[in-house]
Amino acid sequence: MDLSRYPLDVLAGRVGTPFYFYDGAILDQKFGELAALTDGPGLQCRFAVKANPACKVLETAHKHGMWIDAVSGNEVLRAKRAGFAMGNEPPTVMYTADVFRDNALQVVVENGVLPNIGSPGMIRELAEAGYRGPVALRINPGFGHGHVQACDTGGPSSKHGIWYEDHLEAKQLADDAGFPVVALHAHVGTGPQIREFDENMKQLVALFAHLLPHYPDVRNVNLGGGIPHPYKPDAQAYPLDEYREILQGGVRQLTAAAERPVGIEIEPGRYPVAGMALLVARVKDVKTTRTNEKGPGHQFIMVDAGFNDLVRPAMYGSYHKISVVGQGAGRAPEPFVVAGPLCESGDVFTRDDQELLQPRPLPRPEPGDLVVLHDAGAYGAAMSSNYVSLGRAAQVFWEDGKATLIARRETLEDIVRRECEEAL
Ligand SMILES: Cc1ncc(COP(=O)(O)O)c(C=O)c1O
Repeated sequence: MDLSRYPLDVLAGRVGTPFYFYDGAILDQKFGELAALTDGPGLQCRFAVKANPACKVLETAHKHGMWIDAVSGNEVLRAKRAGFAMGNEPPTVMYTADVFRDNALQVVVENGVLPNIGSPGMIRELAEAGYRGPVALRINPGFGHGHVQACDTGGPSSKHGIWYEDHLEAKQLADDAGFPVVALHAHVGTGPQIREFDENMKQLVALFAHLLPHYPDVRNVNLGGGIPHPYKPDAQAYPLDEYREILQGGVRQLTAAAERPVGIEIEPGRYPVAGMALLVARVKDVKTTRTNEKGPGHQFIMVDAGFNDLVRPAMYGSYHKISVVGQGAGRAPEPFVVAGPLCESGDVFTRDDQELLQPRPLPRPEPGDLVVLHDAGAYGAAMSSNYVSLGRAAQVFWEDGKATLIARRETLEDIVRRECEEAL
């Protein structure tokens, strides 16, 4: 994002730091790209709400004809509030999970959205809750992993889905309960290499082509999310045109295998939202440690955002481009570690996937300058917490040259509101 286009300093003065900044034009463009990608017979795109559930994001997804992949009862209800249709004709909202938790079972039954079965026991629970309707089966295809090894989305060590060799047992349970299986699903994610994604998708199509003859009611096969986003400056943008060919070829292959029309759904989360957002933090200090027998010294830029605001670097060693805005911006780069306010040594934004410090060439900022973390729209605010009772950051939406506060900073009152003393 070109930072010179936004009055970040003025906004920081109004809403305080840290805050999330979302550019509505980029969001609109990205959902437009997904709509074009799946504009054609037999193709449908869902948005994986987990990446960013902000109402503005859901409304933009809706405007572009996206359907929804929700992973909690409350995500289903947030989609409903944003205008998505409930029911399963068509199954605009699908509920994907490996267990029902909280209100999920009730929300699925009451709203008739399509449950995507990640563990066979969910079929029993649905039957006991009086559900009558179709289901999808989430398959663990035996291969695949996400953008980092920690995201284990397929294979013997993955908790997700029904093991591919056991799918017929799950189907039998669904048959016994009277639930037609109308969709087959898998999500194996991005893979660490950009081309691995293409191979994963082709391999999934081949697996589903093999399974389909057992499923006379299946109308759609869902290949999950995982379209890569180029976080690193030298990373290539993923060529959506090539994915379009894989999807169109997949529809032909699946239709031939089933000997009737079978469509393909995809459900990216990261792709439409990652690049539309910044996390804007204030520089509080610049300090150094010195080399000794334990290791080399470092220069630290201390900012007021921490892993409570953006957990990906601490959790996965994920890379986010960092810029300095303010007095120091034009200075020659020096190696800096960027660290947050939490009393946790892992509260560092410049780490590699081995959890080691990875100093970044950055201009030396002055206290009071802004440090901006780019590409923070996916699993950013969505995974933030109020750890150490810091309120979750404000969210600002930028559209047509105007800024709107779409989520205010969480206050102490918000945090303590649910505390109680009730006899049980
Ligand atoms: C079931 C499912 N679908 C879709 C997604 C979205 O993946 P991504 O954000 O990589 O596109 C996820 C992410 O974890 C997921 O678990």
